[in-house]
Amino acid sequence: MKRTLTMLGLESSCDDTAAAVVRHGEGGSPEILSSIVAGQGDLHAEFGGVVPEIAARAHVEKLDLCVEAALADAGCELTDLDAIAVTAGPGLIGGVLAGVMCAKGLSAGTGLPLIGVNHLVGHALTPRLTDCLAFPYLVLLVSGGHCQFVIVRAADEFHRLGGTIDDAPGEAFDKSARLLGLTQPGGPAVEAEALRGDPDRFAFPRPLLDREGCDLSFSGLKTAMLRARDDIVARNGGLSHQDRADLCAGFQAAVADVLAEKSRRALARYLDERPSTPAFAVAGGVAANAQIRAMLQEVADEGGAAFVAPPLPLCTDNAAMIAWAGIELFRAGHRDDFTLSARPRWPLDDTQPAMLGGGKRGAKA
Ligand code: KG4
Ligand code: ZN
Repeated sequence: MKRTLTMLGLESSCDDTAAAVVRHGEGGSPEILSSIVAGQGDLHAEFGGVVPEIAARAHVEKLDLCVEAALADAGCELTDLDAIAVTAGPGLIGGVLAGVMCAKGLSAGTGLPLIGVNHLVGHALTPRLTDCLAFPYLVLLVSGGHCQFVIVRAADEFHRLGGTIDDAPGEAFDKSARLLGLTQPGGPAVEAEALRGDPDRFAFPRPLLDREGCDLSFSGLKTAMLRARDDIVARNGGLSHQDRADLCAGFQAAVADVLAEKSRRALARYLDERPSTPAFAVAGGVAANAQIRAMLQEVADEGGAAFVAPPLPLCTDNAAMIAWAGIELFRAGHRDDFTLSARPRWPLDDTQPAMLGGGKRGAKA
């Protein structure tokens, strides 16, 4: 096996078109040579959510431009690459298909090997890209589309401890923001409002804390937000600035409490396996939330595990994580051919039953 690998990664499973080049010499730290992310936020803004057909068409238009830019930024030609990695699921089928077809075309034209990557594997292996974490580590994937606790034992071996049975937390942030007339994406808007709010004024539930295990639920929080808002509007005719801030603070505190308690349980189960260098990592857009991040850090500290939160551009959707997962899988002997198909639903852990929830992507993974 070649000691240094240079991988092109493509990502198009939701509303970001991305391409990146990552290089890794065995024994050294991986190097992100380029990472291009073309968001589609403006295309979907007026619809209040991602429109799959619009997303797919935009991916088709942007993918080759992103590849060109990623190669140029990395100072590479296609001939400098060792292989091409592409998100083959889970996600919106049109977008995933666009990426897989683009990667197949590049592979056919260059003769380079093709590797289909599970998008969730990309997120789950990111702490190795950023912090060279040793296996096994615990990761919490927490975004607008995902929420699950996973023990990462190897680049192709995952054990899910639990996850959301309905909405993803980012989705609950986004829907709550919409209910309060705040901007999208809702997470940052709710966090900003919460800073000047009283988290104790409204009693938000802590769903599933009374149930054993690491499964989570967030759709009840969104309903609680709707009820609380409607009550105030019925009584006072509208929401004041303070009402909005207090609602955001109460909602955010509930999400943080639930994530912290379930993380405590997941960490305990992971620590039972006596890992030699225990580590708890977090990935996904919701990890940008300062209160949530601080509470997760506390949980890791209590358990004596290192806490790893990759920088935000690598927590949210990007192609560097796909290129990196491609390198890890390539080294583990994985190769695909032109029969590679797009899998809109593709669980991280094929040995376990599919999860009930999956968030806005309908990933159900
Ligand atoms: O990982 P990501 O970019 O894409 C998905 O895979 O969904 O995550 C986006 C999600 C959105 O729902 C957004 O509202 C949420 O992450 N988010 C936040 C914050 N920043 C982004 N949620 C809470 N607090 C934040 N500061
Ligand atoms: Zn993602």
